[in-house]
Amino acid sequence: MSEARPLRSRAWFDNPDNIDMTALYLERYLNFGLSLDELQSGRPIIGIAQSGSDLSPCNRHHLVLAERVREGIREMGGVVLEFPVHPIQETGKRPTAGLDRNLSYLGLVEVLYGYPLDGVVLTIGCDKTTPAALMAAATVNIPAIALSVGPMLNGWHKGERTGSGTIVWKARQQLAAGEIDKADFIRLVASSAPSTGYCNTMGTATTMNSLTEALGMSLPGSAAIPAPYRDRQECAYHSGKRIVEMVHEDLKPSDILTRDAFHNAIRVNSAIGGSTNAPIHLAAIARHAGVELPLTDWQEVGHDVPLLVNLQPAGEYLGEDFYRAGGVPAVVSQLMSAGLIHEDARTVNGRTIGDNCAHAVIEDEAVIRRLEQPLRPRAGFIVLSGNLFNSAIMKTSVISDEFRARYLSDSNDPDAFEGPVVVFDGPEDYHARIDDPSLGITARTLLFMRGAGPIGYPGAAEVVNMRPPAHLITQGITALPCIGDGRQSGTSGSPSILNASPEAAAGGMLALLRTGDHVRIDIGRGTANILVPDDEIAKRRDALEASGGYRYPPSQTPWQQIQRERVGQLETGAILEGAEAFQRIAQEQGIPRDNH
Ligand code: FES
Ligand code: MG
Repeated sequence: MSEARPLRSRAWFDNPDNIDMTALYLERYLNFGLSLDELQSGRPIIGIAQSGSDLSPCNRHHLVLAERVREGIREMGGVVLEFPVHPIQETGKRPTAGLDRNLSYLGLVEVLYGYPLDGVVLTIGCDKTTPAALMAAATVNIPAIALSVGPMLNGWHKGERTGSGTIVWKARQQLAAGEIDKADFIRLVASSAPSTGYCNTMGTATTMNSLTEALGMSLPGSAAIPAPYRDRQECAYHSGKRIVEMVHEDLKPSDILTRDAFHNAIRVNSAIGGSTNAPIHLAAIARHAGVELPLTDWQEVGHDVPLLVNLQPAGEYLGEDFYRAGGVPAVVSQLMSAGLIHEDARTVNGRTIGDNCAHAVIEDEAVIRRLEQPLRPRAGFIVLSGNLFNSAIMKTSVISDEFRARYLSDSNDPDAFEGPVVVFDGPEDYHARIDDPSLGITARTLLFMRGAGPIGYPGAAEVVNMRPPAHLITQGITALPCIGDGRQSGTSGSPSILNASPEAAAGGMLALLRTGDHVRIDIGRGTANILVPDDEIAKRRDALEASGGYRYPPSQTPWQQIQRERVGQLETGAILEGAEAFQRIAQEQGIPRDNH
C-alpha cells in the first residue's frame, strides 16, 4: 500500500510547521480518551456519517451497525470519528423530506471539508439519505464508501406479503370503497413494517441503495441484505475495513462516479423496476460529480432494458426475497450477459463491476428472472415533452394490463390517449374535491396535480398519484392517468407522468391548464400536449402574469425560503443552483484555513 497523497488529517493533527495550531486541534480530540499516538502516527482518520436517530427510524439501525463499522476501521489501523448528519425521514418530515435532501447535503459537505477526515463511511438508507450522502461525497471527493442499512423484513397480513408504501395505496382504495374500516386500515398498513430497516418494496430506498451498489459506491452484494440479518452486521464490518484501504489507495468518488457508472445504474434501475425518484437523485449526484447525465439518457440508455426483478410495486415479492434470490449482483450478471453493463467501471472494493458480478447467479427465478424470461421486455422510463412541459417521465413497467386495455388500445394509435382534464392545486384541493360528482370524472378523465414541484411545495411532494373517485373504484377502475409537477412515491404502482419541469410555480405551462381542457399523451412519440389554441394560451398567460403569477403557500422556515430562491427543477436534479463551479467548489480549494 502506497500513500498517493498525504493524509488531510495531518494538516490538523501533525503539522510541524504550525505547532501552535496543531496543539489546539489535538487537545480537544484528546479529551475523550484518544491518544497522541493515535492522532499523530499517520493513521487515517475515518468519519462515520451517522444518519440514524430516533427521528429517522428507517436508518436507526445504523446506530447498531456503526459498532461493527468501528471494529472494521480499527482492525485496519484507522481512527474513528463518528458524527451525526441531518435526519431525513421520508415518512416523518413535513412538508416534504425532499426539502431536506439539499440541506443534509450542505451540512455533510461542511463536515467532510472542514474537519480532519481522510475518508468516510456514508450510512445510507431511507430515500433521500442516500443521494444527500453521495452528493456530498462527490462534492468533497475524499474516499467514501456507502453502507446501506438494508430493508425491513417482509411484511405479512393474512398470509400475504404486505409491502411498505405499496399497501397504503391499496388500503386507501379499500377504505374509499368501504371494504375495510379505519382500524383495519391502520393494522393493514402497519403490518408492512415488521422490523428495523427501510421500505421492503422496490420503493425509492431499495432503488437508491441498489443504484449505489450499481454505481460502485458500496460493496458488491451489500444493497439487498435485510437490516436485521447477521449478514448486515458483517457487511458493516467489511465496509469499515475497506474504507481504510481506500484511503491508502486514494480511491475517490471521482474514480468511481463516471458516466459509465451512471449508465450502469440507469440500466439496473430498469431491470429492478426502480423508482421514478431515481432520475432526480442520479441527476443530482452526477452534477456534483461533474458528470454529464441529461434526462434523455434515461430513455436512450434505459428504456429497452427488461424488467427482471419481481418486487412490489411492479411485481409480487419483497426485500427478503430479493436478497435470497441474489440481489443486485445477480441482476447485473444478467445484464452483463447481454452487454448492457460497462464492465470496466471501478467500484469501492478496488475491482471492476464486471469482476464483482461475473459469477453471480440467480437463486430463485420467481424473484429475479433470467434475461430470456423477463417480466416485461422494456421496463425503463420514457421521457415526455411537449407544450405542457419541457420534460416529464413515465415508468412503463407499472402500466397494468387493465390500464393498457383502457387507454392504449386504440387500434389507430395504440400508444396514445387523450381526454378532458381535471386540475388540482395541491393535495388539499384534491382530497377536498376528488369525490365531488360535479367534477364529472369518468374513466376517460386525466387527473392533473400542480403546485407540487421543488418551489411550489418546497422539496417537491409525492402527491401526483391520485386515486380515482370512489364511484369509479367500485366499478373496478383503480387508476386514472395522473400527471403533475410533483413526484410520486417509489412504492406506488401508478403509471403516472411525473416530475414535470418546469413546474407551475416556476412559470410552467401547467399553471395555465384548466379543468375541462383536453390533453393528448402519446407514449410512442413521447409527447404531451394541451389541445388549446395558441391565442387562448397567450390570453391565459397574460392574465396569470397580470395577477402576479401562480400562487403557492408562503415559506414557513428560513430554509424553505433559501431553497426556493436557489433550487433548480426536477429534470436537472433539483439541486441548489449557482455558477457551475459552485457544485464542486470544495474539490478545488485544498485544505481550509486555520480557524484561529
Ligand atoms: Fe424510509 Fe421508505 S420511508 S425508506
Ligand atoms: Mg416517499
